[in-house]
Amino acid sequence: MSSKDWEIHNHSGSKRVIVTKELPGTLWRRRLTQAGCKIEVCISEDVLTVADIKAAIGTHCDAALGQLTEAWGDELFAALKAAGGTAYSNVAVGYNNVDVEAATKHGIPVGNTPGVLTETTAQMAVALTFAAARRTGEAERFLRAGKFKGWLMTLFLGELLWRKTVGIVGAGRIGAAYARMMVEGHKMNLIYHDLYPNQDLENYIAAYAEFLKSQGEAPVYCKRAESLEEVLQQADCISIHTVLDDSTHHLINQENLALMKENAILVNTSRGPVVDEAALVAHCQSHPNFRAGLDVFEDEPAMKPGLVDLENVVIVPHIASATRWTREGMATLAAGNVVGLLLGYPAWNQPDILPFLAEETPKAAPSIINAKELGIPLFAG
Ligand SMILES: NC(=O)c1ccc[n+]([C@@H]2O[C@H](COP(=O)([O-])OP(=O)(O)OC[C@H]3O[C@@H](n4cnc5c(N)ncnc54)[C@H](O)[C@@H]3O)[C@@H](O)[C@H]2O)c1
Repeated sequence: MSSKDWEIHNHSGSKRVIVTKELPGTLWRRRLTQAGCKIEVCISEDVLTVADIKAAIGTHCDAALGQLTEAWGDELFAALKAAGGTAYSNVAVGYNNVDVEAATKHGIPVGNTPGVLTETTAQMAVALTFAAARRTGEAERFLRAGKFKGWLMTLFLGELLWRKTVGIVGAGRIGAAYARMMVEGHKMNLIYHDLYPNQDLENYIAAYAEFLKSQGEAPVYCKRAESLEEVLQQADCISIHTVLDDSTHHLINQENLALMKENAILVNTSRGPVVDEAALVAHCQSHPNFRAGLDVFEDEPAMKPGLVDLENVVIVPHIASATRWTREGMATLAAGNVVGLLLGYPAWNQPDILPFLAEETPKAAPSIINAKELGIPLFAG
């Protein structure tokens, strides 16, 4: 990286904050400027290495906003601490790229950006589900290639998911939002696997089932599965929404892909390594009626050999959170985390994070993962 890869805003700011990628919108920058920060933004599209980021931190840096493509571990948190840094925020809800334990060891609070990605990411999972079920990628390629000779009863027959069973693996914020979109929109039954029950989701679907009955329609049900295998065996389409950690690495593998229905649909918008991608390629090759929709890849941006040639796989380049509102919201929340920490505010402790997108925000840092470990007080209202 050279100095021309970095753009500086608010030169006179007294606190130096580095931002490792350009961010959309302007509110995030206003927040940092109002807090007296000089903002240095890397405008290169290249993924920064640990060495690049260490060089950018230099000898004086108060805070950093980093990306999920960067390995924020012991080396970087030690460098940030040594440069006088007191705050870090990932510009993402997932933080598998961050060694939170190392950050805590160096006394650096770590922020993330939950709440603004939920519906946007769930919608992309829905889009991939139906793109796979209705074969829109294949059909579009066929049409663009000039192969369409007129309406045919047998052209691109897909799967009708109406009133079938949707499975989710990981029933947190995004998984639950996806489940509701599928259940409410397509009257599907739900079976889910998670380490914990999601009582709110279960209650919601039970109430929705009562509503359907009151309209003279057949109800739907929601069931927490005893095991992942049960979801894979019973669902017609399955969407993955877990975090990526040691417990979920290759959670979907050759053995359990074999349990899925012959014509099932598997969608992944969580993180690539949750699925053994080579096993998925082999499974799709040998099961032409099986379909997959992928937003994330194991060796991103690379794909496992053979994936790109599969007609029964729909692929998009990690854009599940790519709506303007969400991406601007992520930038604003990440800036809010850093501003809150630099100004010595407490950590927000309520699920509704939207007040931080308004012009006037609560005097708190929106989402600090290791607040408890670092003894950062919680917002008292
Ligand atoms: N593709 C994208 O652009 C994009 C956008 C947003 C989030 N994500 C990914 O989606 C993930 C989920 O986001 P969220 O906001 O819903 O998080 P969340 O923390 O609300 O939900 C994650 C759920 O996974 C469950 N879980 C954890 N380990 C599990 C295991 N071994 N087996 C079963 N369930 C397990 C948790 O109990 C939790 O309910 C993020 O961690 C991130 O990696 C991707």
